[in-house]
Amino acid sequence: MHSKLIELEKQFKPSILTQLHSPLLTQKNIELWVKRDDLIHPIISGNKWRKLKYIVNDALNNNFHSIISMGGAYSNHLHALALVGKQLNLKTIAYIRGEQPKKLSATIQDIQSWGMELRFVSRTDYRILRNYKKPDQLPGIKSGEYWLPEGGATELALQGVAELVSEIDMDFDTLCIPCGTGTTLAGLLTSNLVKTKVYGFSALKGADFLFKDVANLLNQQHIQNNWNIYLQYHFGGFAKTNNELSLYIETFKKQYDIALDSVYTGKMFYGLFDLIKQDAFNSGEKIVAIHTGGLQGNRVY
Ligand SMILES: Cc1ncc(COP(=O)(O)O)c(C=O)c1O
Repeated sequence: MHSKLIELEKQFKPSILTQLHSPLLTQKNIELWVKRDDLIHPIISGNKWRKLKYIVNDALNNNFHSIISMGGAYSNHLHALALVGKQLNLKTIAYIRGEQPKKLSATIQDIQSWGMELRFVSRTDYRILRNYKKPDQLPGIKSGEYWLPEGGATELALQGVAELVSEIDMDFDTLCIPCGTGTTLAGLLTSNLVKTKVYGFSALKGADFLFKDVANLLNQQHIQNNWNIYLQYHFGGFAKTNNELSLYIETFKKQYDIALDSVYTGKMFYGLFDLIKQDAFNSGEKIVAIHTGGLQGNRVY
């Protein structure tokens, strides 16, 4: 591990496990734990650091001076990357989806203030950028520049995610994770959870492509039958919400003192409790749901 990363990690807080208690969980005899990756850092939080760790390590070890990536106007990925770049003295550049608005979102204002260079691109050009998957694949990339695809979806991201599993020092039957690109889910699957079920909850509508994307990220290795992605808890699509979800998040905060975001973790917990209600889990099961952070994104609502 590069010495700069060891230094950076010194400011991080431990990701603890918290057990949730509710009449439903008691009635169904389900033990539900939350792995609080949201507590690691206020900005470089949740799956962001897990995914970025070995990518940034690779960039530093190979003397890259810049990381170029892509994301939307509220991207947690760009937000975390910009701050990591600032702290490690790495230049960061972002392709941002859509024309430059008159007023920049709070996320974009932050990343700009941390020194990230902004390049607004049309939605069509943004879609084209999704085709470039390897660090040197971006057309026109210069020496010393490292290309990082949307959401940090690379093989190196999987390694950092897998570390999360080894921190769970108890037996459990099921792991739950929200999905955007499916990279974090793929990372969990690389940790050889032979008997454990891994369930993803898609934040996007019509996301059946995720099954193929996860398989591609895994390079056809570690493909087990013990995982699934629930596609029905998208609440209308990516970053879409409604009163039911907002109320759910508000009640969750009051009940468990845990803040959720509306894009990812709110939808996962809503879906998970819905599945518990429908008896999708066996009595006596022990579930660990991963809080992947992303709370900065709530500033849009
Ligand atoms: C808070 C949060 N949770 C979950 C995800 C989904 O992660 P992935 O794109 O690896 O599926 C993201 C996006 O990266 C995120 O920002």
